[in-house]
Amino acid sequence: MKKSSPVSRSGRFSGGPAADVAQFTESISFDQRLWRQDIQGSLAHAKMLHKIGLLTAEEHRDISQGLEKIRAAIEAGTFDWKQELEDVHMNIEAELTHRVGAGAKLHTGRSRNDQVALDLRLWVRDERLALLNDIQVLQKSLLDFAEREADVIIPGYTHLQRAQPVYFAHHLLAYVEMLERDAQRLRDSKERGNVCPLGAGALAGSTLPLDRESVAKELGFVDASDEAKLAQNSMDAVSDRDFVVEFCSDGALLGVHLSRLAEDLILWASTEFNFIKIGDAYTTGSSLMPQKKNPDVAELMRGKSARVIGNLVSVLTLLKGLPMTYNRDLQEDKEALFDTADNLRATLRVCAAMLNHTSANRTVCATAASDPALLATDLADYLVRKGMAFRQAHHAVGSLVALAEKSGKRLNQLTVAELQSVEKRFEADALELFDLGKAMKARSIIGAPGTKEVKEQLARWRKALGK
Ligand code: ARG
Repeated sequence: MKKSSPVSRSGRFSGGPAADVAQFTESISFDQRLWRQDIQGSLAHAKMLHKIGLLTAEEHRDISQGLEKIRAAIEAGTFDWKQELEDVHMNIEAELTHRVGAGAKLHTGRSRNDQVALDLRLWVRDERLALLNDIQVLQKSLLDFAEREADVIIPGYTHLQRAQPVYFAHHLLAYVEMLERDAQRLRDSKERGNVCPLGAGALAGSTLPLDRESVAKELGFVDASDEAKLAQNSMDAVSDRDFVVEFCSDGALLGVHLSRLAEDLILWASTEFNFIKIGDAYTTGSSLMPQKKNPDVAELMRGKSARVIGNLVSVLTLLKGLPMTYNRDLQEDKEALFDTADNLRATLRVCAAMLNHTSANRTVCATAASDPALLATDLADYLVRKGMAFRQAHHAVGSLVALAEKSGKRLNQLTVAELQSVEKRFEADALELFDLGKAMKARSIIGAPGTKEVKEQLARWRKALGK
């Protein structure tokens, strides 16, 4: 990195900052990635400056062409980023001014404070779309998996104890639902974040007649009827990072959902459960134990949620004590934000790929699902249908479970006489409840894991998500 005099220090200072200060305060090492948004914002700002007569047509043309050339250099990897120029904004502006005389006019009516607020809003807007796309890719993988294993039944669990039977697909679709709410939250927050801060200047606007509406429209900060959406308070505009918090918060909850999915996959892949087989390419071995096949991908999915949650807490903590308005602390918002986006997107993609290489161990699932104790509640429901209060029915079936346990039988091996010894209302047809196929058909209300209902949910999601 070459030495040159930082643009922000002209005049007031006798020289550049000390080397350790430059190193401590720089953000170019991580905010470089805002270059697209920075150039996009500068192009719009220059266009407006020309519109209001503060740039001649020639100056506007020179600035625009200069910015396009810088864009090409960055894309080609030949741009010389300089640490002593602190951040992406000063690097680009200094290079523009070096190339084009009129570059020195670009910062008219603008501060890095409204500039960085703008760049970050644009970045979040772009990144949100990419994240939404990755969420949908995972939803499709879950749906594909659910369809491949559509007839597989497993025990559903509460307290990690076998509870009631569910279709494997029903379990997977629970995550499709969670991901849908995550996507919805991201879409909801777009509206609040889609507000143009340009014109706020350092904190107090400008004495120049800036046309804020035209810049906002140029940058797509508009409402449903194409009206410009402008930050209405300059002090709020430069210091607000609500949209970063919202992205990190939406992301943290998404991370939690991915972590729960990971936990299920890890349990299912264990020898104890053995419900699924993850393709070799998506597992790792042990350096010591030759027999091991470890679900590291799923474990890292679970692990990465920790940092994503941490990023949310970092940003909230960063903001909570800041006096109005801009403070350099705000520079610390970026790494947390980028880290959340990067890790979630990587997790979503690798998880989708892993699920495409995962299958259910059908025999093991069938054996587990055939545990008749899973249908104890169905027996209680039987008694309810015969007019018994549920609490009493629950008690009666509890006694049956105890009786079966005492006589070393499974619940479905009890005789009708034994059932009747506990409760007279039991008849021979009670034992038919243990037919798992029938039992699954009987769960026929909306949201239940019934045979028809799960099929309908699969079809609904297929229609919503497409092929
Ligand atoms: N790199 C800074 C940030 O990310 C840009 C804004 C700097 N503004 C200032 N007045 N020092 O927050």
